[in-house]
Amino acid sequence: MRNEHKPVLLDETIEYLNCKEDGIYVDGTLGRGGHTAALLENIEDEGLVISLDRDLEAIEAVKESIESSNLILEHANYINIGEVLEKHDIDKVDGMIFDLGVSSPQLDNSNRGFSYQKNGPLDMRMNRDQKLTAADIVNKYRKEKIEEIIYDYGEDNWASRIAEFIVAYRKKKKIETTFELVDIIKAAIPASARRSGGHPARRTFQALRIATNNELNQLEDMITGAVEQLKSGGRICIISFHSLEDRIVKHKFRELASDCICPPEIPVCMCDKEPIVKVITKSPIRATEEEIEENYRARSAKLRVAEKI
Ligand SMILES: C[S@@+](CC[C@H](N)C(=O)[O-])C[C@H]1O[C@@H](n2cnc3c(N)ncnc32)[C@H](O)[C@@H]1O
Repeated sequence: MRNEHKPVLLDETIEYLNCKEDGIYVDGTLGRGGHTAALLENIEDEGLVISLDRDLEAIEAVKESIESSNLILEHANYINIGEVLEKHDIDKVDGMIFDLGVSSPQLDNSNRGFSYQKNGPLDMRMNRDQKLTAADIVNKYRKEKIEEIIYDYGEDNWASRIAEFIVAYRKKKKIETTFELVDIIKAAIPASARRSGGHPARRTFQALRIATNNELNQLEDMITGAVEQLKSGGRICIISFHSLEDRIVKHKFRELASDCICPPEIPVCMCDKEPIVKVITKSPIRATEEEIEENYRARSAKLRVAEKI
């Protein structure tokens, strides 16, 4: 339904966080507040939830829907968690949740330009204060860079042809809308290839969204920063929706958990690295069939959890 977002892997996340009544928790990706509401239900009056979103619309919507004196809402990027906590005089927290990607209301609102199924301005900015839009990328970036984005972030084998068609089109007219881009992509992918693998524009739209919002680079920085803000025994839960994100989470957790980062050719450890976290989920937690039946988005969700040592 429009402007609603069904939280994914909610029970599992709350269970892993093991909430304390007087605990302080961060929801780094507020969305429509599904995980935030569950956190609030699991703390008492002495507890606190600090929820961030870089999309002001999410903050405004939750201000209307959740009323709690135990909730602090901040329009902020999750890479700035440290500053947000400092602003509220909070040193360390008991747990954190990050539910990555876009929310259903962002996809549903044609004005946001995230969806290949709705016509609107080719925008895709989660934070509308940001300058760079998806239209800037397709209209201004070099062909090679556009191809790289579609290939790397969309894993689309037609990346080169799609980039070629984008550049040919923009010589005649600026690409302004989502449907203009969908038509360009459809023209670039041969009809035989278009018959399989879902909507032909899905991968390119995913790639442009990731590039516009710098999602993957920020994810890595966020994990390093977030873990620093955890109390010993505190847990970080990250839900990702595609393999590129999950790979980053897996590798970053593994790096933080390792006691040596020496290159393999060095026979004796010289780095003195101490493990910072313990990985709790050896393999990612997936949604149950029941949840997937109720919420199709859950089919690709993967939850990974680490605990600060
Ligand atoms: C999948 S939704 C979260 C849904 C939420 N858990 C719920 O149950 O309603 C992801 C949200 O994270 C936000 N977001 C994505 N990247 C962010 C970042 N770097 N900093 C802050 N918020 C971010 C998006 O704007 C979006 O609202």
